[in-house]
Amino acid sequence: MKKVYDRKLRFGIIGTGWIAESHVECLKEMEDVEIAAGADLIPGKAEAFFKRYGLEGVHCYPDHKSMMEQEKLDAVCVCTYNTTHAECTIDALEKGIHVILEKPMCVTQKEAEDIIRAEKKSGRVLTLGFQPRLDENMKMIKKIVDSGELGKIYYIQTGGGRRRGIPNSTFIEKSTAGIGALGDIGCYSLDMVLNAVGYPKPLTVSGYTSSYFGPNPKYNNPKDAARFDVDDFAAAFVRLEGDIVLDFRIAWAMHIDTPGDTIIMGTEGALRIPSTECWNGSVGGPMKLYKDVAGAQVEMEIPLCDGEYNSHGVFYSKLRAFIDAIQTGGRAPVPSEQILYNQAIIDAIVRSAALGREVEIQFSDIS
Ligand SMILES: NC(=O)c1ccc[n+]([C@@H]2O[C@H](COP(=O)([O-])OP(=O)(O)OC[C@H]3O[C@@H](n4cnc5c(N)ncnc54)[C@H](O)[C@@H]3O)[C@@H](O)[C@H]2O)c1
Repeated sequence: MKKVYDRKLRFGIIGTGWIAESHVECLKEMEDVEIAAGADLIPGKAEAFFKRYGLEGVHCYPDHKSMMEQEKLDAVCVCTYNTTHAECTIDALEKGIHVILEKPMCVTQKEAEDIIRAEKKSGRVLTLGFQPRLDENMKMIKKIVDSGELGKIYYIQTGGGRRRGIPNSTFIEKSTAGIGALGDIGCYSLDMVLNAVGYPKPLTVSGYTSSYFGPNPKYNNPKDAARFDVDDFAAAFVRLEGDIVLDFRIAWAMHIDTPGDTIIMGTEGALRIPSTECWNGSVGGPMKLYKDVAGAQVEMEIPLCDGEYNSHGVFYSKLRAFIDAIQTGGRAPVPSEQILYNQAIIDAIVRSAALGREVEIQFSDIS
């Protein structure tokens, strides 16, 4: 295979917090990558981060702009909190740098559209950090839908969450996260089903958000409760193009073990995916396929894949897929045009919740 670059790709890491660890751990294993630079707004954080990984020659900067001005980079990992995703990604693309951007894509639909405009102008690869897609069990969901066994899909129920599992750090304030459970784990549930059914365009959303747990010291550490100002629960009824409706709910905390399994209903069959948080690619148990066979209503269990197929794990695979797309001049493994629809649904849930009524989703011209 002829590679676009016949040398190591020079990578920069923007934001050296928690998720940057998995990026660096994976990139360190790759022979065709050099981790050249890193940036973090918190003084000394990037330096300490790379030292921990034994990467002492990495040049460190106090923000992404100065890093990209002073370094010749081929690619960056945008590992910042949600509210700086758009700025960092657009700045990198404008400098002609390939980008792997962590999930959620950003905070608003408008930011997502601005990112895609910059991507189109740049001609560079932009992919999104949705690693669950690379899990064999998750891939199976799409394979089942694509096989036609379910017929025409008309109803999807998805979401999930935790009885108690409110994160902390930069996830719980509007100034850094922008959105709460919706952006943290909601985007994964949406991606799981929308990717399976071919990412139909979202049309309207009736959404609800609440935060009865995060700010309450009965359920959250008092210090975190005092600064908590994002959603910890969201629900929505979404109409998608092609006469499909999507019933969605997500929670960081609730008084029940799960708000339900994921189900995909079609005219020829239905699929049940036991409740999952998705982020690590896990499904909550064997999936079940329901069909009529020779006039009998039957249930079939889909055996779980055991994970040996992918010894490096989904986090490694997501970075590898990004690099392979750069080196082959190929398509982004998780394309932004798809995740625009994911972000638009999240944005519409927030808008609808604020207005207390259904809202339409309009897309601006990003050609
Ligand atoms: N794919 C996954 O499984 C996964 C898991 C966890 C987090 N995430 C996502 O990764 C992102 C970061 O999460 P985290 O837990 O690492 O957060 P974090 O708060 O630990 O780290 C983010 C870092 O980015 C830095 N930063 C912000 N803006 C910057 C800028 N302009 N230039 C340089 N540095 C900047 C902050 O100072 C902070 O140190 C979030 O969007 C989150 O949703 C993804």
